[in-house]
Amino acid sequence: MTTERFKNLFLVLCFALLPMTMMAKQEATVSSPSGNLTLTAGVDNAGRPYYSLRRGGEVILLPSALGMKLKDGSLDSDFRVVAFARATKDETWRQPWGEEVDVRNHYNELTMKLAQKKGLQRQLNIVFRVFDDGMGFRYVFPEQKQLKDFVITDEATEFCFKGDPEAWTLPYDASYYEGLWTKEHLSKKGKVCTPVTIEAKPDLYMMLHEANLTDYSSLNVKPVETKGGNVSLKAELVPWSNGDLVRAKAPFVSPWRMLSVENKAGGLITNRVMLNLNDPCKIKDTSWITTGKYVGVWWSYHMQTATWAPGPKHGATTENTKRYIDFAAQHGFKGVLVEGWNYGWENDWGKEGDKFNFTKAYPDYDFEGLQKYALSKGVSLIAHNETGGAAKNYENQLEEAFSLYEKMGIKAVKTGYVNNLMDDKEHQHSQYGVRHYRKVIEAAARHHIMVVNHEPAMPTGLQRTYPNLIASEGVRGQEWNAWDGNGGNPPYHLCVLPFTRQLAGPIDFTPGIFNLEGKVFPNTHPHTTLAKQLAEYVVIYTPWQMAADEIENYKDQPAFAFIEAMPSNWQKTVIPMAEIGKYIVTARKDRDSENWFVGGMSDENARDIKLKLDFLSPGKSYKAIIYKDGPDAEYDKNPYSMTIEQQVVNNETVLNLHLAKSGGFAIQLVCLK
Ligand code: NOJ
Repeated sequence: MTTERFKNLFLVLCFALLPMTMMAKQEATVSSPSGNLTLTAGVDNAGRPYYSLRRGGEVILLPSALGMKLKDGSLDSDFRVVAFARATKDETWRQPWGEEVDVRNHYNELTMKLAQKKGLQRQLNIVFRVFDDGMGFRYVFPEQKQLKDFVITDEATEFCFKGDPEAWTLPYDASYYEGLWTKEHLSKKGKVCTPVTIEAKPDLYMMLHEANLTDYSSLNVKPVETKGGNVSLKAELVPWSNGDLVRAKAPFVSPWRMLSVENKAGGLITNRVMLNLNDPCKIKDTSWITTGKYVGVWWSYHMQTATWAPGPKHGATTENTKRYIDFAAQHGFKGVLVEGWNYGWENDWGKEGDKFNFTKAYPDYDFEGLQKYALSKGVSLIAHNETGGAAKNYENQLEEAFSLYEKMGIKAVKTGYVNNLMDDKEHQHSQYGVRHYRKVIEAAARHHIMVVNHEPAMPTGLQRTYPNLIASEGVRGQEWNAWDGNGGNPPYHLCVLPFTRQLAGPIDFTPGIFNLEGKVFPNTHPHTTLAKQLAEYVVIYTPWQMAADEIENYKDQPAFAFIEAMPSNWQKTVIPMAEIGKYIVTARKDRDSENWFVGGMSDENARDIKLKLDFLSPGKSYKAIIYKDGPDAEYDKNPYSMTIEQQVVNNETVLNLHLAKSGGFAIQLVCLK
């Protein structure tokens, strides 16, 4: 045999002896259904997994790291691709409530199956889903002999952007996420929570977040400089108190890491990638899950005219609550929130030894009698469960409390966790907190109770799976306009929230303050006009919207008619005009009629806009009832000036609207058939 023939034979033999899996290509691409987005995934020469994303020829994400570090070994290198698997899905699912009724879930999927070449030869799969308007991926730890219980000590995931785009973010340590979102170049940021809203103008807007956070810790990200001035955001998970990030047992899946990709800012609001990455509804019969509006014995506490704890100014008295129930019945509100009704407040918010009791009412509050009274008027109490952060104390009482509420016909609970840590030890956004919140949602679902979660982990679209999770706080809400030492929320804040916090899910912002004077600090009050308070009802989304002011302040107020008319569930949402942080116009179509509601608001600058009503159905005409800033309105000098006018419009109408400094407008469009 010649040397040449020997060489060839040797090569053929080697090739034949190589296991099939060794021949798998080390990189693959998957495009979205229309081809708009294309994702590439693979492993590099060091066996490190990566992915990248393109929109047509445009780079959205440069090759970005993937992988995990475990306490007992690394899962971020030494990999080979064992196989790529593909799948596709096109389904439309219906939301019991939401900003639109039907959601299309259309994606192509690529699974990269990895195994390590040496050592324990552990397996890890990474599943990518590519939609026309975004992508998501998750880590899947298959069942395997080499991996049982494990602890994640680092997640290598990165999102490597081209250049150094500007982004709206909130620092990861803003207490309860109650901070101001700010815009800077990514490289100027510290560690931030997600969502991160990236404004890579002129026609690229993205939202980086996670979906389906079930048994993991919340995602934060931190910029790392890469070659060529590109900035990458690296995952930084919220730890347990001992430094573990995530405790798990194979088989196990991580939440989805996701990026929505739009060419207009408003597209971020109507993007449904996060919801689609959550699991389908686990509640078989959702007919008990409703939407509505509520009032509450609440703002008086923040105005310091009443107290949570019993005493001469106790707010949760039978008499006071009756007034709220009567008001709710008279004006078509379904719920009355009452805080300070149960034992625990007298002990410094229950903090003295986990004293909150979730079934025992103070003697001046006839809990059962009031609920009967409310039900007789078509209203229900909303039970308030402030835990003071004592999660275990709450968990120990969950069954008993929710059984009682269910028996009484109470349909919703507002939970609260005012404390820096849960159970004085673990961070609320850690896996410990995430597990607790999930336990509460599941227990509530078993008892047909809806949950409004204050001091939450950042929402991630779980309402698709558990639609009884109706809203969360996690925002610098209206209450800051009561007692913030620095004056309250700045005018631009409400023009940022729809593009940041709200992308994560419905917000219990508690709008509708009609008395705009500060009672606690003279300069602290809502820095808006009255018309902008109305606009909040359309722009800020939640299926249970509050009329948050003390009820006396709604007396003889013509503007209150807009809140009364507002529906709470929607067929469709469109964003006709918007610029993040400057102004926004939101239009929503009622779920049960042909009527539309439009809200518009401005930052500290006045502006004149031409609003095309081309979202209305062609061939129909509508009576438009317009609540707008008066010509002399200004949030700091003349906030109450408002003009209410009517005109008949159709889908060719263009409205000329003046928005005052931190002003706005609200329009009710009644279809005339
Ligand atoms: C903070 C919540 O945001 C607020 O709505 C509530 O009134 C207090 N905690 C008391 O639970």
